[in-house]
Amino acid sequence: MSIDTLFQPFRLKSFTLKNRFVMAPMTRSFSPGGIPTPEVAAYYQRRAQGEVGLILSEGTVIDRVASSNDPNIPRFHGEAALQGWKQVIDGVREVGGLMAPQIWHMGVMHPHESGWLPAGPFEGPSGLLRGESQGGRAMSDTDIEATIAAFAESAAAAKKLGFHAVELHGAHGYLIDQFFWEVTNRRTDRYGGKTLPERSRFAIDVVQAVRRAVGPDFPILLRLSQWKPMAFDFKLAKTPQDMEAWLTPLADAGVDVFHCSQRRFWEGEFAGSDLNFAGWAKKLTGRITITVGSVGLSGEFVKAFRGESSAPEPIDELARRFDRGDFDLVAVGRALLSDPHWVQKIKDGRTTELSGFQSSDLRKLH
Ligand SMILES: Cc1cc2nc3c(=O)[nH]c(=O)nc-3n(C[C@H](O)[C@H](O)[C@H](O)COP(=O)(O)O)c2cc1C
Repeated sequence: MSIDTLFQPFRLKSFTLKNRFVMAPMTRSFSPGGIPTPEVAAYYQRRAQGEVGLILSEGTVIDRVASSNDPNIPRFHGEAALQGWKQVIDGVREVGGLMAPQIWHMGVMHPHESGWLPAGPFEGPSGLLRGESQGGRAMSDTDIEATIAAFAESAAAAKKLGFHAVELHGAHGYLIDQFFWEVTNRRTDRYGGKTLPERSRFAIDVVQAVRRAVGPDFPILLRLSQWKPMAFDFKLAKTPQDMEAWLTPLADAGVDVFHCSQRRFWEGEFAGSDLNFAGWAKKLTGRITITVGSVGLSGEFVKAFRGESSAPEPIDELARRFDRGDFDLVAVGRALLSDPHWVQKIKDGRTTELSGFQSSDLRKLH
């Protein structure tokens, strides 16, 4: 099985990725007070030097009092934080890399394990924490309007700083996803409803506002997941028809790329087909899609947080699906967190030099 096709360039609006590999967004909590440091800039620059086609930043939060539950997660607002991000993108550009920030609002959260709390209450569609209990307050119309504006402001800042695109974090049970999920969205106004398309109103408004802020030529990526934390088998879209009804309005609102989060890329999305989430999203919308999940590794990422390490794995199955046309781009998380040269080693067939992922790498910024 040849992997050469994964090294063909890819055109995304006005820029060209040198290959199909994307660095997956990975929260690192290495930005004291929310301000990315020179070490953070050097970490991303090493991945650009390592020939990653497109780097997605760790989730970086928008300008809402309670958009984060961790003071060391970078902010994407305010002069000092944006100056930090300027160092990041300048460093990446200097060595010919492409990068997009992943902009994020966590929604209703558990407080950070350190006990740190934001200056105001957590906020979400109904104030519910994974549907179990009240963990914050239900957002008012004014909150929703201001949050949509804050997403747009961060996206505009990304463009102004020289980033090449922007990714909206709509996955993994955070704010945008809390609106999608009936368990956390019990609203009866225009942001709620019995159907997934009705509960997509918030995401659509965010995408439209971001599109207005960045103009027609700046790529917008949207990260989505069917699974939720504590509900790994959950599916927002239970059939291809549901998925089409969910994604088409988002594509129409201005999404260029769907980043389809799975824990294992090879798992089929619906019974009777081995097509994965990115495969279905591409087939149903015609948009560019990114797959992700355990690429090049033996174990999956949720277990990594519980201390599990992963050994290197061949990427033949990935290449087979790619050559079949299932998806356009491939995001790689832990393999790139552990080894900034992972893409080059794969390209050159230096597989004996791959060392997999050690859970201790989560505490390093190398
Ligand atoms: C340390 C770590 C932090 C992560 N942070 C984020 C994040 O900020 N935003 C996000 O969308 N996904 C996040 N993820 C999920 C990854 O982007 C990716 O989807 C997941 O690790 C699966 O890819 P992998 O198997 O190649 O690691 C994180 C994963 C890890 C391991």
